[in-house]
Amino acid sequence: MSTPVISTRGLTRTFTARTGPVHAVRGIDLSVAPGEILGLLGPNGAGKTTTLRMLTTLLPPTGGEAEIAGHDLRRDPAGVRRRIGYVAQSGGLDPACPVGEELVTQGRLHRLPRAQARERAAELAADLDLTGLMERPTAALSGGQRRRVEIALGLVNRPDVLFLDEPTTGLDPAARADLWDLVRRVRDERGTTVFLTTHYLDEADALADRVVIVDGGTIVAEGSPAELKERYAGDPAAGLQDAFLAITGRGAVTENAPIAI
Ligand SMILES: Nc1ncnc2c1ncn2[C@@H]1O[C@H](COP(=O)(O)OP(=O)(O)O)[C@@H](O)[C@H]1O
Ligand SMILES: [Mg+2]
Repeated sequence: MSTPVISTRGLTRTFTARTGPVHAVRGIDLSVAPGEILGLLGPNGAGKTTTLRMLTTLLPPTGGEAEIAGHDLRRDPAGVRRRIGYVAQSGGLDPACPVGEELVTQGRLHRLPRAQARERAAELAADLDLTGLMERPTAALSGGQRRRVEIALGLVNRPDVLFLDEPTTGLDPAARADLWDLVRRVRDERGTTVFLTTHYLDEADALADRVVIVDGGTIVAEGSPAELKERYAGDPAAGLQDAFLAITGRGAVTENAPIAI
């Protein structure tokens, strides 16, 4: 494998709650190749968001190490932040702010001069099919459009790695399929590494080159979707659902209906 763009050793996060320690992430070892689409799959509470928040410098690990895009997570978090994009699970758009202004502001945050920030915003709008929406406040967008804006924001600084936390949760099937196309395009055309979390098995299957299944804060299985199906369900044509069941002893039941493939 070429030099990994993400590598972690024993990455750990324990929260201190009133009821005692919560071991959200218990020593994760990961290696992600440049240009790979990695799917971190697991049920609610598995530790996906906590892992992502650590890798994006938003939450300090309580143990272990990580290197992202050539920068050490602990020693050079600013270096990591310059080279990554992050789209949070809950989104982060200002409802009253027009799309174009959100994009320009993000460019300014990345220290682009105003004219360049405008240019970059127009480029991304054309690329992500947002040109007709630039004047519209983000509150007036559909769920799928809002996701596209959030992804555009994550791409403003031409990141080496784009982190997406449950990018299609809550979207209708057509909008989910559009978003999958967009994620593939980002990787294929820009060579961007994509690290996404999902609790949808069909999403991991359709999108990820490699799937890492987490449960209870640890990695319980990893491989390409086809390998996982073959190994755990005994049949590469079987659904990843069967593999997931065999591994975790349960389906990926979530607040939405479990999705079988
Ligand atoms: N700030 C926090 N304080 C205490 N416990 C937390 C905190 N954030 C997350 N957790 C707990 O850590 C575990 C993993 O959460 P999370 O990473 O959000 O899971 P996922 O994204 O896979 O659904 C859960 O048990 C959750 O309740
Ligand atoms: Mg989460």
